Amino acid sequence: MSLAERTRREHLLASGAATVERCRRCAIGGTRSHSVYGEGDPCAALMVVGEGPGETEDQLGRPFVGRAGELLERMLAAIGLPRDEVYICNTVKCRPTLFDGVRLRNRAPDPDEMANCRQYLDEQIEIVRPRVLLALGAPAAKSFLGPGFSITKQRGQWYVGPLETPLIASFHPAYILRQTGGEVSAVKRLVWDDLKAVRARLDEPVPVPAPAPVTQPDLFGG
Ligand code: URA
Repeated sequence: MSLAERTRREHLLASGAATVERCRRCAIGGTRSHSVYGEGDPCAALMVVGEGPGETEDQLGRPFVGRAGELLERMLAAIGLPRDEVYICNTVKCRPTLFDGVRLRNRAPDPDEMANCRQYLDEQIEIVRPRVLLALGAPAAKSFLGPGFSITKQRGQWYVGPLETPLIASFHPAYILRQTGGEVSAVKRLVWDDLKAVRARLDEPVPVPAPAPVTQPDLFGG
């Protein structure tokens, strides 16, 4: 990727982040501390799409920087991908919260919030043009594959995502962290299968576009 192209993408992503920072389409735009647009390599082969920012992400304005983020980094490292070589974002760019009478708690984004934010996610995909999309957790998977998608039954399979991008869904790292007892190793085994599928897809040769046909110039006029 040329430096000029990388710079062009960086500018487009910075402009997208500025738009999101001004966005107040949803009520959660008014309760957030920071918007969390996304970060990583603008030329990444892999884009990871999570659910939405949690408390730590909201405080820092960065995706996946809490406990789930630490696990995500270990998952990526296991398939040879340093965090900064991946592009990481979420279906919604503001922290979805619920006031329980004492404090704000995290909740899953609702369909209206995901619909309001979808344009921003689509723009990120359009700018980065990843070779693979990895949706983490049911809300992210459903945002691409519809409300009937079952993360337990349909994770680990390949689908066609936006811009014909190969898409696979897996369990969210926060879900993995919540497992106890015998479930832990079973869930980890499934996630490892999914990560290996991502690695294998990324290792496939990049298709080279066919060169434009060369037409014979009219060398001698008339
Ligand atoms: N969980 C998510 O889905 N996204 C984050 O950015 C952090 C936690």
